[in-house]
Amino acid sequence: MNIGKVSKRVESVSPFYVMDIMARAKKLEEVGQEIIHMEVGEPDFSTPQPILEAAKNFLDIGNVRYTTAQGLPALRDKIAEHYLQEYSVIVQSERIFITPGASGALTVALAALLDAGDEVLTADPGYPCNSNLIRLFGADAKAVKVSDVDDFQLTAEHISQSWGGATRGVMIASPSNPTGTMVGRAQLNDIVTAVHEQKGFLISDEIYHGLVYKNRAVSALEITDDVFVLNSFSKFFGMTGWRIGWLIVPDYAVSAATRLMQNLYISAPTHSQHAALAAFNGATRDILHQRRDEFERRRDVLYNGLKALGFVITNKPQGAFYIYADCSAFTDNSYTFALELLEKGGVATTPGKDFGVSQPEKYLRFAYTTTMESIELGLQRIKLFLQSRKPVDSKR
Ligand SMILES: Cc1ncc(COP(=O)(O)O)c(C=O)c1O
Repeated sequence: MNIGKVSKRVESVSPFYVMDIMARAKKLEEVGQEIIHMEVGEPDFSTPQPILEAAKNFLDIGNVRYTTAQGLPALRDKIAEHYLQEYSVIVQSERIFITPGASGALTVALAALLDAGDEVLTADPGYPCNSNLIRLFGADAKAVKVSDVDDFQLTAEHISQSWGGATRGVMIASPSNPTGTMVGRAQLNDIVTAVHEQKGFLISDEIYHGLVYKNRAVSALEITDDVFVLNSFSKFFGMTGWRIGWLIVPDYAVSAATRLMQNLYISAPTHSQHAALAAFNGATRDILHQRRDEFERRRDVLYNGLKALGFVITNKPQGAFYIYADCSAFTDNSYTFALELLEKGGVATTPGKDFGVSQPEKYLRFAYTTTMESIELGLQRIKLFLQSRKPVDSKR
């Protein structure tokens, strides 16, 4: 019998602290308290109707079998077309893999690239699964502190300065989770040059492309083919629960990615792939653009509202649906503050410690994945909550 021991590898995988908040929110809701949810990293909108219709039509036939490991050729062609239309780049369908979300794409990319003992540079704060998965493959995630000065993004200088003997590559995300900040074309160009100078790999997480409010997001594929691009139908396309995304790899990694897809997943969910065939059509695009505009309006209300309450937001988010707000005027522990705000104010947020170790106690992530009405009510509640805290409690 097993003595109840799990692998050493999995010991390095950290939990999502926001789960504590979500569990407590659920308890409070069970006893009748109404909670404003600003902790959730998924759109509140339902999957667009044309995508649902495509799925229903496919399911009516009832023949839900595996696809090839790379994914439906028709969907890969549509994605290739999307890159031509949106970014004016030619991506051969052979380099595109349909994966179970960007999470599946990340797993395949890391499995294709990492050996035990390798090191990958990641931004701190950043998406927590990156470093957890890197460690799961026996490699190390070297968290590089990014700040307001560099728009909370890695720069070429960070990369050159942090590169060590074991470093093999770099992960970037634009727009970023949790800050919503982006990497501009010139910076991206410099990042690519810095990584290539070191003969390393670059993984570019572009999952929030489409949810961008001013300047269009630049894809790393506009600069180089020697990049691993992660993307997904989860966020902009409103398909979180369908578990479908994509990975684009350089030519040299096509065979590796194919073998990994075969062995890890056999294929991405087939009904989701058929549904996603409708994701790029005109009717869907119109719906998604309206939603994007609504996200932008929400961002502005939340951004202005939080600033008026005394939160410090140094870098206005340009994309995604998050605001990473400095709450150090009110607390020196954003985790207990988040719990207290939930308990006494009825507003759920995500504490900074979910995103790294660089001063996480100063930050809360607010997601504007809820209605404008809820955002306005949430702001009122936060105001009352802050007013209700005794001056002695206001800085602990
Ligand atoms: C930056 C980033 N990358 C990847 C993912 C994974 O998304 P999915 O697997 O749903 O496509 C998320 C989800 O929140 C994310 O924020």
